[in-house]
Amino acid sequence: MSRLVYVLNGPNLNLLGKRQPHIYGHETLADVERDCQVLAAELGLQIRFHQSNRECEIIDWIHQARETAGGIVINPAAFTHTSVAILDALNTFDAPVIEVHISNVHKREEFRHRSFVSLRADGVIAGLGTQGYQLALRRLARLIDEKAA
Ligand code: DQA
Repeated sequence: MSRLVYVLNGPNLNLLGKRQPHIYGHETLADVERDCQVLAAELGLQIRFHQSNRECEIIDWIHQARETAGGIVINPAAFTHTSVAILDALNTFDAPVIEVHISNVHKREEFRHRSFVSLRADGVIAGLGTQGYQLALRRLARLIDEKAA
């Protein structure tokens, strides 16, 4: 299985570090990407790290991943709670998908408790801060290794 992993981020995550730091922390998305790249090298993964405020762009990256990737880590941000289109795109992807949320969405407003993406995700990490991305990458590396064995 391919050792390429897409790490996809939804709307407003470009403002990470500035946006509601009491909820999302002080790290920027560039910090998260750097930490993911360092860990990926350690795990023998290659990553494509993207963020968009547009649903269509996220869907296009999922379609690209279909052709090339061994897994997807996705923080769909607000699209988590609204997007049947992202769910449908993920349903066309055959390899593992891990959903990540920096905050514990279950501790927050009720509308954040529902996730369309969770209907497809093989695992969900919420409330572990930006460390959730690292844990998701470790899990994907394990699944890819197991499949290759
Ligand atoms: C989020 C949680 C979502 O409810 C919210 O809309 C986000 C970020 C998180 O990482 O905790 O933008 O996905």
